[in-house]
Amino acid sequence: MENKPTVAVITGASSGIGEAVAWRLARKPGTRLILVARREDRLRELAKRLPCETTWIAADLTEPDAPGRLLAHAQEHHPPINLLVNNAGSAWRATFAEGGYENVRRTMEINFDAVLKVTEIFLPMLRSTAPSSIVNIASTAGRISRPGAGAYSASKYALIGWSDSLYLEEAPNGVHVGLILPGFIKTEGFPADELTSKLVTRWMVSDVRKAAEAVYEAAVLDKPERYVPRPYGLIAVLKILAPGLIRKVMRGGAGQMATTKTGADAADQAEKTRT
Ligand SMILES: NC(=O)c1ccc[n+]([C@@H]2O[C@H](COP(=O)([O-])OP(=O)(O)OC[C@H]3O[C@@H](n4cnc5c(N)ncnc54)[C@H](OP(=O)(O)O)[C@@H]3O)[C@@H](O)[C@H]2O)c1
Repeated sequence: MENKPTVAVITGASSGIGEAVAWRLARKPGTRLILVARREDRLRELAKRLPCETTWIAADLTEPDAPGRLLAHAQEHHPPINLLVNNAGSAWRATFAEGGYENVRRTMEINFDAVLKVTEIFLPMLRSTAPSSIVNIASTAGRISRPGAGAYSASKYALIGWSDSLYLEEAPNGVHVGLILPGFIKTEGFPADELTSKLVTRWMVSDVRKAAEAVYEAAVLDKPERYVPRPYGLIAVLKILAPGLIRKVMRGGAGQMATTKTGADAADQAEKTRT
């Protein structure tokens, strides 16, 4: 992938990590981008500013016709893509007792089901342009759970399990599958104000540019898996080696502290106040 122009679909490109990935890929000579998200005004503005050939398509990826519309757009406007960045995602905080199956369902719908549907429709094209790449944005929450974030963790654990299998299946076809596991990265969806407002926890929150660099390494340099920032990988190791200790720590104040509020919750709250 390093020596050929990148033609990429980036989902969730209207803000946060997805937007940063667009800027990072745009620096590679010959890159062409297709930006995807629901907020068309954001995509249009970003496409205007990026220094590479860029088109956009506004789509809610949970709608049944979204994957087909993306494929049709790509076929009409670009050469066949050789990179798919599955980044769009969301999180709603609720314990299982409060949020029930419905909260798990809506989280899986965007963080897992939509990723599979978009991947399924682009896989033949990605095989035809091999060597090519798929990069899935999972989360450290796909290795370790917090109270009130079970639905989100379930979606990211599932995404990791499926991605590892897809990597093995598609390696013989020249389609690399990379996995990104961010910790806390300050974005609209995950503001992490609870952590950045305190000196003792500020260091835990990272920057979108670090995540974008990790995506670049997975997409273009075929890296298999990257935690962002890297030390978050230690949490996964500890979870395997000392599960009892991790449960104990997370049952205490650490679990509550790490369950930060999300942008999706704030949007729901604003909607409730309006109606
Ligand atoms: N920031 C973190 O701390 C963190 C940590 C671990 C993992 N992650 C993962 O990183 C990814 C990006 O998140 P972010 O932190 O960059 O948050 P963000 O700024 O809120 O970005 C989320 C993106 O997903 C898009 N999106 C959400 N629902 C969508 C839908 N139904 N259809 C189409 N697009 C949709 C949003 O665009 P529209 O609203 O315009 O549709 C937005 O562009 C997510 O998968 C998230 O789970 C983030």
